[in-house]
Amino acid sequence: NMLGTAFLLLNGLLLLLLLYTTRRRNKNEPPLDKGSIPWLGHAFEFLKDPAKFLARMKDKHGDIFTFRLAGIYVTVLLDPNSFDGVLNDDTNSFDFNNRRGQLLKRIFNLQLPGNYPASILLLFFRHFHGVNQLKLSTSMTSHLSDVMLKSFEPRSPSQWREDGLFELCYSLLFRAGYLTLFERKDDVDAVYREFRKFDDLLTKLARGSLKREERRVVATSQDRLWDLLYSGRVNGSWQQSYVQFLEEMGVDADMQKKAQLLQLWNTQCNAGPAAFWVLGFLLTHPEAMEAVKSEISGLPSLQDTSLQRRPLNQLEAQSTPVFDSVLSETLRLTAAVMINREVVKDKILRMANGKEYHLRRGDRVCLFPFLSPQMDPQIHEEPQMFKYDRFLNEDKTVKKEFYKNEKKLKYFTLPWGAGKSICVGKEFAVTAIKQFVFLFLTHFDLELCSPNDKLPPVNPSRFGFGMLQPDGDLRVKFRLKTMQREM
Ligand code: HEM
Repeated sequence: NMLGTAFLLLNGLLLLLLLYTTRRRNKNEPPLDKGSIPWLGHAFEFLKDPAKFLARMKDKHGDIFTFRLAGIYVTVLLDPNSFDGVLNDDTNSFDFNNRRGQLLKRIFNLQLPGNYPASILLLFFRHFHGVNQLKLSTSMTSHLSDVMLKSFEPRSPSQWREDGLFELCYSLLFRAGYLTLFERKDDVDAVYREFRKFDDLLTKLARGSLKREERRVVATSQDRLWDLLYSGRVNGSWQQSYVQFLEEMGVDADMQKKAQLLQLWNTQCNAGPAAFWVLGFLLTHPEAMEAVKSEISGLPSLQDTSLQRRPLNQLEAQSTPVFDSVLSETLRLTAAVMINREVVKDKILRMANGKEYHLRRGDRVCLFPFLSPQMDPQIHEEPQMFKYDRFLNEDKTVKKEFYKNEKKLKYFTLPWGAGKSICVGKEFAVTAIKQFVFLFLTHFDLELCSPNDKLPPVNPSRFGFGMLQPDGDLRVKFRLKTMQREM
């Protein structure tokens, strides 16, 4: 009867719960930390501030440990010298499609058939590298100067304009990036507005912690974005290839529409925040600003050119080690991707120090490069400090040698992710940020509204989602330089 079945089911559930909660650490497994709450384990503390929680666990357990997160056991690996055991595993013990599929469904309502094939990465690489990247970057430069000048309207660019630096950078890079990669002009303001509403709530959406009103806001902006992105013709070569690729995979029109929003987010959510941190660090570290400005003033192609004449096309070809170091140092402090894999086969993980650990099938493995290598005091001295020349050698060449426990590191900072899920837009992104910062510094006066202002703190909910965003903003004022006004 019904009661009997319910009783049996309940018993079964309790037994399962007991099995879950009574997991013990076997001899050759990483230290196990289940937390005190049954099933949930450390979920609350982890979700509140992943970086703080994982730093506490690292202090307690060292470079590898397993903790319980809402019924799942997550093994966190924090020794970069041992990352290749996961990133370059040749035993097919790790899978990233499953978890990725869950997130795509939850955030973008997107379901793609089967495995996400590696060929999509090849497609992206083809369109975002080499000649194609140069074409995109050239188009990006002209859009950047347009949107920068337009942002003053209806006033004249020679008058001081005041704004929050984060709002400013995000909006300018988004607009220019959208015009470059999506090639539709009419709706850029609406797309940006809706995108920011969506992005502001994205981490809550991913964690399933939206309040009712927030759920409505997200649903509305998703709807609008799907329509806005889909209404025009799909222009531009990478988009055409992408749509064709989806069609060949048998993805229907509705899902194609949803995939457009995924690509909008992939391509636009990181560069704006990164540009904010670069300019923010420069404005609050005068010696760094001096060094970058002096490097720029030595660049031949940046002399005597007006904004309208778009001087920066050959920028990529010029060597700018000081700026490159500033960018690496900024990303070290503010890029916080989490690299997650599911263990699909029992695996023996060999660490750089020779120790071996057994990873259980069904668990998850997580690399969090923000904690190590990026904020690891054994690798980067005083890791909390912004040191603009951290990635420079004495002879002003780019520094690539860093050590942990006297062993040279292959991974000393990982803002772009690694392995199968590495960023395919890296070259384009670096060029775009460089173009933006150089345009700003050569053509505009830019100052803090209050000279003693500090950078706002990081919003902890963004850990694990790529570029961090600030909690609050930094007020700045800017205007077109006199030299430019006279031209
Ligand atoms: C500072 C700027 C950027 C940073 C730090 C960054 C970082 C990342 C990271 C960490 C991932 C992997 C995400 C994951 O593991 O789930 C990723 C993926 C991706 N990025 Fe970037 N990114 C930046 C800018 C850009 C730009 C400007 C583009 C545009 C071309 C772009 C295109 C992509 C794409 C298409 C993917 C997804 C690749 C896939 O499907 O696996 N990124 N990015």
